[in-house]
Amino acid sequence: MERREASQSLILFLFTFLVFVNGHPNYKDALAKSILFFQGQRSGKLPVNQEIAWRFDSGLTDGSDANVDLKGGYYDGGDNVKFNFPMAFTTTMLSWSAVEYAKRLGLQLEPTRVAIRWATDYLLKCANASPGKLYVGVGEPNADHKCWERPEDMTTPRSVYSVSSDKPGSDVAAETTAALAAASMVFRKVDPAYSKLLLETSKKVWKFAINYRGSYSDSLGTAVCPFYCSYSGYKVNSITYKYHTTNDASYFNFLKSLDANDKSDIFSWDNKYAGARVLLARQALLNKAKSFEPFNQQAQDFMCSILPNSPSSTTEYTPGGLIYKLTQVNLQYVTSITFLLTTYAKYMASSSRKFMCGNILITPTIIRNLAKKQVDYILGENPLKMSYMVGYGERFPTRVHHRGSSMPSIKSHPKVISCKDGFQSYFYSSNPNPNVLFGAIVGGPNKSDAFSDDRTDYSQTEPATYVNAAIVGPLAYLAGSYSK
Ligand SMILES: *[C@@H]1O[C@H](CO)[C@@H](O)[C@H](O)[C@H]1NC(C)=O
Repeated sequence: MERREASQSLILFLFTFLVFVNGHPNYKDALAKSILFFQGQRSGKLPVNQEIAWRFDSGLTDGSDANVDLKGGYYDGGDNVKFNFPMAFTTTMLSWSAVEYAKRLGLQLEPTRVAIRWATDYLLKCANASPGKLYVGVGEPNADHKCWERPEDMTTPRSVYSVSSDKPGSDVAAETTAALAAASMVFRKVDPAYSKLLLETSKKVWKFAINYRGSYSDSLGTAVCPFYCSYSGYKVNSITYKYHTTNDASYFNFLKSLDANDKSDIFSWDNKYAGARVLLARQALLNKAKSFEPFNQQAQDFMCSILPNSPSSTTEYTPGGLIYKLTQVNLQYVTSITFLLTTYAKYMASSSRKFMCGNILITPTIIRNLAKKQVDYILGENPLKMSYMVGYGERFPTRVHHRGSSMPSIKSHPKVISCKDGFQSYFYSSNPNPNVLFGAIVGGPNKSDAFSDDRTDYSQTEPATYVNAAIVGPLAYLAGSYSK
C-alpha cells in the first residue's frame, strides 16, 4: 500500500473509531447519576453534604411507636414507606456491585459505599434494637398511599412492623442476612470494625431466619401485601451471599436444597433463584470448585432462557429490543437481569469458558452485547429516543410518580401541603415535576415501546431503589469499557 493511502485509511479508521466511541451513551455520567438517586430516597436526618438539595429531614420519630430508634434507611419508591424486604435486596445488589466492580466504579466507589451505609446503618438498628425481634418496616402503607405528601410533611402513622419467634419472617430475615453479609465484604478493608459488626449481625439474623421458619407475608398481612408480599417463598434468599462471605460448610448443605427444577427466568426483590445461581457459579468458574458445577449449569440454563436467539429462550422483547417481563415496573427486571448478564460474562471471561444454548455457542461477548443493548435502550437508544433515567440525556420522564419530586420543596414552599391537597394540586397536575430526581430509572415503556410520562401511571413512571441498585454494576462495566 502507498504511504499516502495507508495514512488516509488510518485517519479514516481513527475517524470511524472516534465516532463509534462518541456514539455511545455517556456511561460515566449515567453511573454517577444512578448513585446520586439514592440521596433523593433518604429518610432520617440528612447530612450537610446532601446534594439532592430539595430534600430535607423526615421520619425523625421513626421507631418511637416501639420505643426504639429506627431513623434512617430509604423510601423504596414514590411513597414514604420504609419496606425492609426490597430495601435489603437493594443493599445486597449495591454491595454485590461494589465487590464485583470495585475497580471499574473508580471515583464512584466511595459514593456507592455511602449509599450502602445509609441502608446498613438502618438495617443494623432493625436487627439490634430489641432482642428476639427483627424490625422490618416503618410507615403504615395503606394510610400512606391514601395521601400525596412530601416526606418532610408526613402526617400518616409511622407504624413499626417486626417479625419474631411467634410471627416469623424467614424471607425478610434471610434477605437482611444477605445485605449485611454482602456489605461486610464492601467495608472489610476500609472500615474493619464496621465490617465485623455487619457480619456478626448477619449471622445473628441468619439464625433467626432458619430457627423460626415462615413467610413474613403470613405474619404481617396487609402491612406488607400487596406492596411487597413474599411470593416466591423463603428457601433460597440470601444463602449464597452468606456462603460467599464465610465459606462455612454448614451453609453448603442449605445450598443443596436450592430447587434444581425451578426454571425462574426472572430476577427481582422477590425471586432470587437466578441471582443465587450466578453467584454460586462464581465458585465453579473462578475458584474451580467442582461441587459447584451443577449451579453453573443452572446459571447457563438461566442465560439460555434470556438470550433472544437461544432455542430455549422464554423471554419476550419489545420491537425496540427491550427485555419485557411484566407490566408493573418492567425496568426492574431489565436492570436486575442485565446485572446477571454482565456479571456472569465476567466470570466466563475470567475462566475462558463458553457454553451452548442448544446448537448456539455462547461467548462472553454475546452476553455482554445483550447487556449493552439493554442499558443503551434505557439511556435513550430506543424508538422514542427517550431516556428512562431522569436527568440523563435530552428527553427523559418529567412526571415521575414520586411524592417529593412532584411537589415543591419545603425550601421554596415551607407551608404544609396536606394529604388531599397534594393529590389535587400536584398528583393530578399535568405540569412537569418541579424537582428533578436525578438518576432515577422509572418503570419504563410498555410492550410496544410506548411510554405515557403520566404521573398517575405508576407502572411506567415510578422509580424504585432496587431498579437503580441493579444497574450500578452494568454501568460501571460499560463506563470502564467504553470511556470517552
Ligand atoms: C402501549 O401504549 C400505547 C399508547 O398508549 C398503546 O397504543 C398500545 O396499545 C400499548 N401496548 C400494549 C401492548 O399495551
